[in-house]
Amino acid sequence: MGSRLKAQIGAHGNTALKQRAKFVSSGVAAYSSIVVDHAQNATLWDSEGKKYIDFAGGIGALNVGHCHPKVVSALKRQAAKLTHTSFHVASYSDYAAVCEKLCRTIPSPLPQKAALFNSGAEAVENAVKLARFFTRRSAVISFGFAFHGRTLLCLTLNGREKVLKSGFGPFAPEIYRAPFPYSYRPPAGINPKDLTEYCLEELKRLWQSEIPANQTAALIVEPVQGEGGFIVPTPKFLKGLRELCDAHGIVLIIDEVQSGFGRTGKFWAFEHEEVLPDLLVVGKSLAAGMPLSAVVGRSEIMDAPPAGAIGGTYGGNPLACAAALAVFEIFEKENILNKAGSVAKTVQARFNSFQKKFSIIGESRGLGAMRALELVLDKKTKAPLPVNQVKQIIADCEKKGLLLIKAGIFDNVLRTLMPLTIEDADLNEGLDILEETLEDFCL
Ligand SMILES: Cc1ncc(COP(=O)(O)O)c(C=O)c1O
Repeated sequence: MGSRLKAQIGAHGNTALKQRAKFVSSGVAAYSSIVVDHAQNATLWDSEGKKYIDFAGGIGALNVGHCHPKVVSALKRQAAKLTHTSFHVASYSDYAAVCEKLCRTIPSPLPQKAALFNSGAEAVENAVKLARFFTRRSAVISFGFAFHGRTLLCLTLNGREKVLKSGFGPFAPEIYRAPFPYSYRPPAGINPKDLTEYCLEELKRLWQSEIPANQTAALIVEPVQGEGGFIVPTPKFLKGLRELCDAHGIVLIIDEVQSGFGRTGKFWAFEHEEVLPDLLVVGKSLAAGMPLSAVVGRSEIMDAPPAGAIGGTYGGNPLACAAALAVFEIFEKENILNKAGSVAKTVQARFNSFQKKFSIIGESRGLGAMRALELVLDKKTKAPLPVNQVKQIIADCEKKGLLLIKAGIFDNVLRTLMPLTIEDADLNEGLDILEETLEDFCL
């Protein structure tokens, strides 16, 4: 690229940031200062032609990579054919085809149905509506450190106060919270190996102290917490929830918006614990970055409300459905789960070595390719590394050409959501940049 063109594009990048500062609500977070021009697989290029390795993957929406050729050609084909009718107004076959694909991923003997929406939060809202209508009960229990979205009901479900909840109340009624087993930071006096039992007992206590089990419509849980900091629950926790839901006629809603579509090495994270959801919430990587989400679950629950009670103008838009069908094809033909396994192996080995090498890494954890490093000031006290220092590490990575994002209740967790299709060379280069940055930081 010529230097003049480069300079022009550079000026355009500056303009975009200035325009953003002036006209875009500052409530919309900016995790990096990159003004992206285009992207391919696990690489993106900014408006000055600088290349970045993408470990953020559109916050986990790009498990099959940026602009996969099959997704691009499906979108082109669809854009020339039909972009919108609203599925309420006139049916089209791709909507039902996506629902069929989703239903077939649930290894349940019970019949399944699905409905499509636009965002993860919207799907969560609808899962709660379905559970309430089906059970004719009102209470919903979510878990500490959970993240389910930014609508008012989702804010209420979230188990994290700072930024996400403060100032936005009053919140939705009839939402209760139980503890989630975060084995790196167990409650005082609780041994991590007793956490499953502790958390399940606390849940039962909630049914005695706050709301009876027979008025509880649903439990909603992430099988690996995403925004909470990639917290993998202790063994048998999900199984315990399943058993309690069965005992009390409660709908178990599993939110796989971030953990789904191969991220953890299985298609769904719940498969690791051999637990089945009554309702599954899906989003992000379902349509490779096109806005599409879904609730999939037992037909009797999905069919409970009257026609017109769920849905919306755009849910299951034809372009998003075409992209989702391409994603399913890519999973079938390109062995994405195998790729997820090899990405997981590489990242886990490097992260474990970083944990040994650097004093600021309290824990290297994760499931499959959903991996994270929890940063601390001191490995003994586990005091979280202050957020300005975490941001410094992320900014230094960005300077060196790696896009990385954080998570965690203390904002001190580096997480990896790179496309599962990332080339080995890019993966290793990204990990090298992170290692070098941590090394410089710890000097
Ligand atoms: C587990 C989980 N549920 C729900 C959501 C909300 O999804 P969306 O941002 O598409 O509304 C997210 C987003 O990060 C998520 O991680």
